[in-house]
Parts: sequence; structure tokens; C-alpha cells
Amino acid sequence: MNNYDIKDINQAEGGRRRIDWAEREMPVMRQIRERFAKEKPLKGLRVSACLHVTTETANLMVALQEGGADILLTASNPLSTQDDVAAALVNQWEIPTFGIKGEDDVTYKKHIGIALDHKPHITMDDGADLVATIHKDRRELLDEIVGGTEETTTGIIRLRAMAADKALKMPVISVNDAMTKHFFDNRYGTGQSTIDGIIRATNILLAGKVFVVIGYGWCGRGLAMRARGLGSQVVVTEVDPLKALEALMDGYQVMPIAEAAKIGDIFCTLTGDINVIDTHHFEVMKDGAIVANSGHFNVEINIPGLAEMSKGKPKLVRPYVEEYEIGDGRKINVLGEGRLINLAAAEGHPASVMDMSFANQALAAEYLVMNADNLDNNVYSVPAEIDAEIARMKLEAMGIEIDVLTGEQVKYLNSWEEGT
Ligand code: ADE
Repeated sequence: MNNYDIKDINQAEGGRRRIDWAEREMPVMRQIRERFAKEKPLKGLRVSACLHVTTETANLMVALQEGGADILLTASNPLSTQDDVAAALVNQWEIPTFGIKGEDDVTYKKHIGIALDHKPHITMDDGADLVATIHKDRRELLDEIVGGTEETTTGIIRLRAMAADKALKMPVISVNDAMTKHFFDNRYGTGQSTIDGIIRATNILLAGKVFVVIGYGWCGRGLAMRARGLGSQVVVTEVDPLKALEALMDGYQVMPIAEAAKIGDIFCTLTGDINVIDTHHFEVMKDGAIVANSGHFNVEINIPGLAEMSKGKPKLVRPYVEEYEIGDGRKINVLGEGRLINLAAAEGHPASVMDMSFANQALAAEYLVMNADNLDNNVYSVPAEIDAEIARMKLEAMGIEIDVLTGEQVKYLNSWEEGT
């Protein structure tokens, strides 16, 4: 096979072993893969996936392939690709794969173009790059498209903006909306893997540090919880009064970012928005402050602005740690070029949560095919039955039993006459 662009095919064996290791923690995906292998629900369909090239994604790709899909994978971030996994996908499963850790933006976009040359019936996005590019530059592909799936909050924000403008010309299923996705992946996955990325990049002790969590969505909640668990004093900044109140009652200090900027040791953005750490924040930060992002795009920290206020070029003081020296000699450390630190410096969310996220992806793709004639050009949630079934399968795989309502309890819940 020569339809790929990866770092080094010789890394395939190591990649395959790590993919197998992840598979052990993905029992729901295993069951789906086994059913897909028998039923072939995606037979004859071209699927282009733009996802982080990780061991967990590899397990999803294999399940889709076994389900009959003609699959192509391209990276959804220039810094998140695991090169050994890309090699294994090409070598072992003959899945055309495009992604090299550290690739430049030109290569990244070229790979997106190749993924679209595959003429997908189904797109699978993490950040909406495939769907956005189709609508901007490749509209001829819309004729054959059945629909798309979207993994992440940032992508959903983009897609809902398109739908509101009536610009969206294909149905898309928001995997991120599924409770078996965001309750676990966004909260426990981002919580753990972001801490993992910050620690792998810096090796700093979190105990006793002031850790500023910027954005208290599901990801921010998870990160705040885990930073507190490691002994940091956690400060939360928010723009949404409800989330700010929740953070306060969860026991965190809440304040505007302009105040937090003066006291923080470590900052992490998880907002999906632009320039949430801006130049006037750098101006008041402590010497040695560490700044990271765990949102999808590298726009949350104003790095070009920081570069402008710095003397000379930043110094790479450790892998993934660039030190900017600003006017008065203070140093600000930016992790992973402001790209999502959990995938840049660590391995992303652990397999056990990706098991549920990717079960949603696989079943959403199947749902798109089965319901192609009934879907409008809109953003849909994952059907509640699919969500509940994934939770049931996960519990069963973990060996956990739960109670069922008695007949009397069902009757009580359905009646309104009974009470005081
Ligand atoms: N997003 C966050 N963690 C991930 C992982 N391990 N694989 C794919 N996408 C991810």
C-alpha cells in the first residue's frame, strides 16, 4: 500500500502492541467490532475520519473497517499524532493514514484535502475540519454525503453556528452531546490526561501551587477536580454565571482572569474561545508562570502577542516547554505551543473513557446509514437509546450490577394521585 503519509513505517510493531494494550480497556468497542464484523453495517461506504491518531482511535478504525467501511484516517491536530500508531494502521491493517507528529500547517491541510479526495459518504470529525472544508472548498462532495459525526465541544460550536446560518448542508450527529461521552471523556478523560500532559512536560509538583482553570465546562470541572486532588489551590475563572456559581459551591475560588493572572503558578485554558489568556494577563503574571491549553484549537492563549512582548525568540527549555522572556526579565513558560497539552505531551484520554466516546462514534455512523432518508441538514444528538445501551454495556463489562425498579415503584412513579 502506498496511500499514506506517516513518519516511519518501521515503528509499526511497537504501535501494534500499544493498540492491543489499549484494546484491553475497550470492552464496549470490542463487542461493537465483533457485531460489525458479522453484520457489516458500513459495507460499501467510504468513511473519512479526521481524529487524533492514537491507540484508541486505531481501535475505532479497525471496528469500522471490520464493519465493511472503506476507511481513511487523517490527523485532527498537527501535534497529537502517535507515529507508531500511524505506522501500525498502515502496515498491519492497510488503513490509509495521514499524520506526522509535529507536521506544519501546510502538511496538515494537505492531509485534510487527501481525506476529502477519498470522497466520503460519512465524515468523522474532531473539531469539524472536514465538514468546514467541504462547505468552504469542496461542495461537490455534498451530493454523495450521507452525514457526519463530530467528537468535540469546539466542533459542535462551529457546526451549530453553521446550522444557525442555514449554511450546514448535511446531517451531523453530535457525539459530544451523548452523556456516555461528555460525562466521562470530557470530565475524567480531560481531567486526568491534562494533568498527565502538564506533568510529563514539566515534572513539577502540583501540591501547594495555585492552579488556574480557565473555563468550567465538563473539561474544566474534571481538571479542577484532579488538580485539587494533587494538592493544588484551584482558582476557576468563568464568563457564565451558572458555571461560576457551581465552581464556587464545588469549593473553588472564583475570580476574573485579570485577578487570577497575578496569583497563578499554572494556568490551563479549556474554553473553546480565542485569546482567553491575553497580553495584559502576561503583563501581570509571576516570573516562571506556566501556561497551557487543553481546548481543541491553539487560539486560547495569545502566543503571537506574547512573542511580540518578548525579547528574542522563545527558548526550548525542555521538550514541550518554551520560555518567553518579557520586557522586565520575567519568564513565562508556554507548554506544547499552546496546543492541547494532553495530546501534545501525553497520550490523550485513557482508553477506558475513549471506549464509550468511540462506541458513540461507531453507533452514530451506523445510525446515519440506517436513517439516511429521514435526517435533515442539522446537528442531531446521539439517540438516547444508544447512549443508554453504551452505559449498560460498559457497566456489564466492568462486572457491575445495578437494581431494577419493582412493579410497585414503576406504578408509583407513573402516578400523580399518590403523595402526602
Ligand atoms: N481525544 C482526547 N483523547 C483522545 C484519545 N486518546 N484518542 C483520540 N482522541 C482523543
